[in-house]
Amino acid sequence: MAGLDSPRLEAEWLLAHVLRLPRMRLVLESRKELSPIELDAVGQLLNGRCHRVPSQHLIGTAAFLRHELVVDRRVLVPRPETEGLAMLAIQHLQRLPLQKTPIRTLDFGTGSGALILSIAAEFPSMEAHALDVSVDALDVAKQNADRMGLAGRVRFHLSDRFLQLPPGLHFDLIVSNPPYIPTTEIETLAPEVRDFDPRLALDGGTDGLDFYRYLARESGRRLIPGGNLMMELGFGQAREVAEIFQKAGWMDESVEKDLSGIERVLIVRWPGGLNQDGQEGI
Ligand SMILES: C[S@@+](CC[C@H](N)C(=O)[O-])C[C@H]1O[C@@H](n2cnc3c(N)ncnc32)[C@H](O)[C@@H]1O
Repeated sequence: MAGLDSPRLEAEWLLAHVLRLPRMRLVLESRKELSPIELDAVGQLLNGRCHRVPSQHLIGTAAFLRHELVVDRRVLVPRPETEGLAMLAIQHLQRLPLQKTPIRTLDFGTGSGALILSIAAEFPSMEAHALDVSVDALDVAKQNADRMGLAGRVRFHLSDRFLQLPPGLHFDLIVSNPPYIPTTEIETLAPEVRDFDPRLALDGGTDGLDFYRYLARESGRRLIPGGNLMMELGFGQAREVAEIFQKAGWMDESVEKDLSGIERVLIVRWPGGLNQDGQEGI
């Protein structure tokens, strides 16, 4: 079907969605006759997939950890790799001293809100901040915050990088899945990504590393001394990105692998004191 890797599995998944059944139950229901409405709905979804519309766009939601997030063309469809970053952030926050309240966390480039909302859901007393340059993405993130009952607990910032973020805010933790695809590689990506994820969410500049250089230079002054920055990495970027952060004076780097064994998350700590350009780190 249209160059898809697992057409049968995808078809079963969409059929199960229309019938509101777990996919494994389809075998038991194999003699069930579809109503005209169900047939039409399945036909529309299959037609969409044949045109390489992401299944999450067809259904309108994406699964992320234990949550279901609204997604559409305004945001990147959250990926399983990013669930790994969210889990690492949750484990990290669980280790912070309880008397330090409120813990303040920022999601730089929040998109659908997948990272900050799934983290905030685990820590009722955490102060959560979400930043994005896309007003459309923030609309989706706010909708997801509403759906998850977190609307009053997350502050949303429309900001190009840190430029419009209020200056007095300092965070215990910054998480980010920044755009990291080299510009010229975007055209080579699968149609579901190339044609449906926002270009703004993908484009990391000529070598894909523009946002890492920016974060290495600028995010120290947004952290408390000893605060951490946790970032998702693109395939094969770990060594170069770690070097960028070492040279900018960050400490304690660790690189964490995803379930496929790919180096996927870089964790660094800001020691405080002076930034590279000689200004105070906080
Ligand atoms: C790879 S997506 C990540 C979305 C979401 N955090 C996730 O993991 O699914 C990167 C996000 O960064 C945002 N972004 C791109 N350029 C930005 C900028 N200059 N300032 C702030 N956010 C930016 C995009 O709009 C997009 O939502």
